[in-house]
Amino acid sequence: MSETLANLLKETRTFPPPAAIAAAANVTDAAYQEAADDRLAFWETQARRLEWTKPWDQVLDWSNPPFAKWFVGGELNVAWNCLDRHVAAGNGGKVAIHWEGEPGDTRTITYDDLLKSVSQAANYLTGLGVVAGDRVAIYLPMIPEAAVAMLACARLGATHSVVFGGFSADSLSNRINDATAKVVITADGGYRRGKPSGLKSIVDEALQSTPSVEHVLVVRRTGQDVAWGEKDLWWHETVEQASTEHEAQAFDAEHPLFILYTSGTTAKPKGILHTSGGYLTQAAYTHHAVFDLKPETDVYWCTADIGWVTGHSYIVYGPLANGATQVMYEGTPDTPSKSRFWEIVDRYKVSILYTAPTLIRTMMKWGADIPAGFDLSSLRILGSVGEPINPEAWMWYRETIGHNNTPVVDTWWQTETGAIMISPLPGVTAAKPGSAMTPLPGIVADVVDDQGKSVPDGGGGYLVLREPWPSMLRTIWGDDNRFVETYWSRFDGMYFAGDGAKKDDDGHIWLLGRVDDVMLVSGHNISTTEVESALVSHPSVAEAAVVGATDPTTGQAIVAFTIPRGNVDTAGDAGEALIQELRNHVAKTLGPIAKPRQIMLVAELPKTRSGKIMRRLLRDVAEHRSLGDVTTLQDSTVMDLIANGMKDSKSDD
Ligand code: WT7
Repeated sequence: MSETLANLLKETRTFPPPAAIAAAANVTDAAYQEAADDRLAFWETQARRLEWTKPWDQVLDWSNPPFAKWFVGGELNVAWNCLDRHVAAGNGGKVAIHWEGEPGDTRTITYDDLLKSVSQAANYLTGLGVVAGDRVAIYLPMIPEAAVAMLACARLGATHSVVFGGFSADSLSNRINDATAKVVITADGGYRRGKPSGLKSIVDEALQSTPSVEHVLVVRRTGQDVAWGEKDLWWHETVEQASTEHEAQAFDAEHPLFILYTSGTTAKPKGILHTSGGYLTQAAYTHHAVFDLKPETDVYWCTADIGWVTGHSYIVYGPLANGATQVMYEGTPDTPSKSRFWEIVDRYKVSILYTAPTLIRTMMKWGADIPAGFDLSSLRILGSVGEPINPEAWMWYRETIGHNNTPVVDTWWQTETGAIMISPLPGVTAAKPGSAMTPLPGIVADVVDDQGKSVPDGGGGYLVLREPWPSMLRTIWGDDNRFVETYWSRFDGMYFAGDGAKKDDDGHIWLLGRVDDVMLVSGHNISTTEVESALVSHPSVAEAAVVGATDPTTGQAIVAFTIPRGNVDTAGDAGEALIQELRNHVAKTLGPIAKPRQIMLVAELPKTRSGKIMRRLLRDVAEHRSLGDVTTLQDSTVMDLIANGMKDSKSDD
């Protein structure tokens, strides 16, 4: 029988929760049984974490799959749940956001302050004619007004569409037009790598072709010169002059909350639609469970941008629904120096840190001596999201940042799932480095073969979700057929996520990358993630990206792009020797079938703005094709470097 996806990497280390975290954990082992006994009752219990103005009549309506309705008939206001109820409970003076600008300016925003700002924005938007159901596009840097704008929309029942501030005028106008947004909220600019970069100018360009937009609200952040048109309004002259009193009105549980376009690398972006009650329930529950948030004592920091779903669910909605105190940072991790993150952790005594593998591997590359100069003892839980985290990066995170006493939670989810789906629980799970471990209570995930049959422990295949979940996407905006086609047609009655995965011998789940990236080498389906992890497990390697290139003998051959760690000598013969050593290291770790045909030592890897490696481009390089579209690259010069390196480091065998 042929394997759907080979299972090559063996990892035997496990890290049980520290006794103190286990003893006081928000969620214990019992939650799994409770959810398994009655999944819908379990989610009802979690929905009661929120305050509803009208209770639901039915937990789940799944009579017309894949179109789900959760908490049918229930009503609530999302912003009220994130703000007013904390103020009403006497916590108005509590810090909601410790904001830190890239140039070093700071703002301390309490729940009282945030409620006032959101009320002002809601009042002013109402004055502009924004009503429930209208769409508002938000194109802002990581400043508090981004959260204010989102919550003001939520408060009014307007649907926000946040567009990441790094996107081009074209991407922005496409998204504005797809959602027919009426208002755009932006800033003059934002700070990145020490320089003010313009946003308003990009909006001006986008607005050449967006007939639906009536008004543009502009936050003054950098003070740079901007062109001014008749649709333009300064935020400080309008919103900040409005009344700070606003009465929130309740909306249906299924009222649209936001559209977020997925960062698809080629196809037309998909407007993922999320609604209110189920989304907020799962965002709040998972934030409470996976990060073990103690709102009285924890300081939480998620380093994602608000333009991605991580920023929606784990900066705005989850943490604020739970009354958390959090850090929000505007800039990049290397401005003004590579210790910026650790300065922030020590300054605010951050206790929960949620970041991405790409950042962890970058920190590894920079070297352990940088974080070693900081205390970091406030940290008690570390999280990872966005890509598979290689076992070595996981270990580095735990040891170097967590001083070997913090659980690491590797959280698998997607824009489409809305909230975390598969993750260890910090007070329960004996986590294995590199594994997302177990579906959360109330989530039914599986790994299946080509036929949709559950694979046995030790087998690999496709990651699917077998039951609907509260924060699931409801459709693709304006395109129900594409929703059904994209997510629900590969396997009967299952949501297919697009990811490959395996179950280890204990049944724990390991993510193996997008199935489109799987390599077919001499008849074996080999995961890029496993070969990358084998490379990163070598002490000289900080980061690796692996692709399959057409090969006359093996069908596809494995080509690896590898970034050495900071202190490694790669000049001349030393580089050649390292390449051979790495090829043998992979063969030894995973078996000869996984030995890369070629390894290239590079300084950078092409990444999307959310930090995912662009393997499509690397395949082009590996197959000597001309480069495809590089406009979504974080740094397009990286590709020149790699293409040049390619010429003189080709290895033969
Ligand atoms: C894709 C979703 C989820 C918020 C940020 C990304 C990959 C995400 C993990 C993880 C392995 C992961 C998957 C997924 N991914 N988290 N912990 N382990 N892979 O949201 O842009 O919608 O991307 O990111 O491939 O399908 P997104």
